Amino acid sequence: MHEFISAYSMVCATRPEYPVYCLRPQAVTLASRWFQDNFPGRVLYAVKTNPFFVETVAAAGVQHFDVASLAEIELISSKLPGARMSFMHPVKSRTAIRRAYFDHGIRDFSLDCPAELDKILEETGHARDLNLLVRVAVSNRHSCLQLAGKFGISGGPAADLLLRTRQVARRLGICFHAGSQLMQPDAYAEALDQVAILIRRSGVIIDILDVGGGFPSVYPDLLPPPLADYVARISACFETMPVSETCELWCEPGRALVAEGASLVVRVEMRKDQTLYLNDGTYGGLFDAGQPRFVYPVERVRNVKRGESPLQEFSFYGPTCDSMDYMPGPFLLPVDIDEGDYIEIGNLGAYSMQLRTEFNGFSNYLLASVSDQPLLSLYGESRAVEVAGMTAIIDSSAKDNGQTPGETQ
Ligand SMILES: Cc1ncc(COP(=O)(O)O)c(C=O)c1O
Repeated sequence: MHEFISAYSMVCATRPEYPVYCLRPQAVTLASRWFQDNFPGRVLYAVKTNPFFVETVAAAGVQHFDVASLAEIELISSKLPGARMSFMHPVKSRTAIRRAYFDHGIRDFSLDCPAELDKILEETGHARDLNLLVRVAVSNRHSCLQLAGKFGISGGPAADLLLRTRQVARRLGICFHAGSQLMQPDAYAEALDQVAILIRRSGVIIDILDVGGGFPSVYPDLLPPPLADYVARISACFETMPVSETCELWCEPGRALVAEGASLVVRVEMRKDQTLYLNDGTYGGLFDAGQPRFVYPVERVRNVKRGESPLQEFSFYGPTCDSMDYMPGPFLLPVDIDEGDYIEIGNLGAYSMQLRTEFNGFSNYLLASVSDQPLLSLYGESRAVEVAGMTAIIDSSAKDNGQTPGETQ
């Protein structure tokens, strides 16, 4: 992979025909270390977020992985032999359970209904060394992306499942996901309150409490409170939870570990008024800019100081024939942006590379590594001092060095 100082030097050197991911493993290292140093429990990386970074995350000290499929399990087994994996998909195929247990030594499985418990027991030969985590339903009201509809059990059925699972598990856990990109630390407090009620109702002893993912990244219109506030809230709640003395606390961050690890450089193929037609879109690396309407930080790739041209709001179309290949934004870019210009779209290390399709034949993309800072960062210096009208927004982030954001190069 070619290495460049920045997206600008990459564009000058290659004038790329295809979208290019500019990878910043150093940003993933910083985020992973922050979690290792600050979360008062085990940190599991949610591999689905971006499998490309599993080795980077591991090198930074995260040795435990939340896997969702046999393919992810095989990836971790081959790239990081000996790493611990927890199979946290609540609905698994029988083959996947069998192979996870017998071929890959996985002992941690999640479930959210009695039928899945039966399946796990049958396919592992009624193993007595299982760590079983019951996925419970919690409020997702503080999240930008809801994960509440599909998985999770609550109320009386949850209490019954906990009791039944306790009888067959070596260690019993509770896990949940309060939704992705949680904008309030209270989200965890509210979820843990619901879990405490459930534990009291069922009367079981819990050995593992897994607060899932949901830790935020930063986007122009989504500036979360400092990550330290989330961890402090979880720690305080955990102290008062009705769990065993030796209960382990787990978390499964995805977005917060890798979002800053990549930006995507795209080219403008056409401008029509305030709409830009790009060479990548929602069927490529920009899925979440579509219906979930994420507004990513953007910057025209040019050797000029930011702010030289006034900015105005644009929306994007991707390259496919589908009108749904539309990203409303608004994305703030120079008024004179036009065909042939390149745009760097930041904080796309999470939920982008893995969501690409071949629709309309636009599947090609390239990888480069760059050494500059992410456009926006919660952990270190940000390059963007003004994004979507906000100025120097990152002062109160997780970073503890007191630096103010740097100037754009
Ligand atoms: C079970 C599980 N854990 C963790 C994550 C990571 O979530 P996030 O990226 O919000 O941290 C997900 C994402 O869907 C998930 O399904």
